[in-house]
Amino acid sequence: MTPEKTFGNTDAARDEYQQLITRSRPSYPLPMPYGWFAVSFSDQLAAKQSKPLRYFDTDLVLFRTESGHAAVLDAYCPHLGAHLGYGIHEEVGHGGRIEGETIVCPFHAWRFNTKGECVEVPYATKIPPKAQGKACLRAWPTHDANGVIYVWYHPAQAEPMWEVDSYEEAAGGDWGEQNRFEWVVKTHTQELAENAADPAHFHYVHRADAVPEWDIKYDGHRATGEQKVGFQTPRGVVNGFIRTSSDGPGQGNTRFSGLCDTFMMGLATPIDENIALMRFAFTQHRDSEKSNIAKGLIRDVVGQFEEDKPIWENKRFRASPMLSDGDGPIAQFRKWYGQFYHDFDPTQLRSGA
Ligand code: FES
Ligand SMILES: [Fe+2]
Repeated sequence: MTPEKTFGNTDAARDEYQQLITRSRPSYPLPMPYGWFAVSFSDQLAAKQSKPLRYFDTDLVLFRTESGHAAVLDAYCPHLGAHLGYGIHEEVGHGGRIEGETIVCPFHAWRFNTKGECVEVPYATKIPPKAQGKACLRAWPTHDANGVIYVWYHPAQAEPMWEVDSYEEAAGGDWGEQNRFEWVVKTHTQELAENAADPAHFHYVHRADAVPEWDIKYDGHRATGEQKVGFQTPRGVVNGFIRTSSDGPGQGNTRFSGLCDTFMMGLATPIDENIALMRFAFTQHRDSEKSNIAKGLIRDVVGQFEEDKPIWENKRFRASPMLSDGDGPIAQFRKWYGQFYHDFDPTQLRSGA
């Protein structure tokens, strides 16, 4: 007797079907915004280390020179195209070798400095004329602060338009070690940021008792918000504040006070137009960082992100949303965020989309 064949309704078919319907979601019609974006935590890159990166729909190499300077270059060598972030011999599984202030291409050992200039072709008598006196690899503006390596992305390669602030809460002293979380999220970075301008979802997605009232100010590249909150604790409600401050699309800070002083950097970086990498880095005041309340606060914020994730990963972008009078400052938020698009006006997206 031949075993009975089963058709349909298998777990494999269901998984495949799920993938198919997720893939068929329309792509985001928005480009990647410009700004400073986290590409690594600083202590994830030792001196004389290099590694491949992929952000901004571009292959990159990140390295730290012998003197400690972090740099990011386009990945592919201008000679014959090797990726500088993949080493050979002793460096297999690591990046290209670092010599002094330069990175060495694994293929024919041409050396490049942090400006992307070729400084040596070890088997030739001179640097090729095409590479003389100029960068032959794009060097991305890089800034190392707050325990984070930031890169300036601009699609037309405009120079940085603001500086990265250094925060005392991320500098040790009275503040503890960074507590970090990372997610790859299949969404556009604008959708992640819109979370803060959407008070109603806090009730329905995050089970907040009431729809919170935010007072958000949009000013230049900065958006700041303040909210009075009653933190739920086992000992009852404790009044406090949540203050948010975004410097462009890649640097969002939240300061919680009242319960236990907590500073959180929310660092969203586009991998491309449809995928973002989100990092959270919390530091808490040493007075209270070991308390259960401090741990609970981090758990709640991280839990909220994970509650939002399935919505982001399955929604589509509505260029002309149908808004109610109970919605927050979504239109102002979008206008503010829209300033970070180069040569692109999101209001021109077809209405009804
Ligand atoms: S490909 Fe880089 S040195 Fe030849
Ligand atoms: Fe949320």
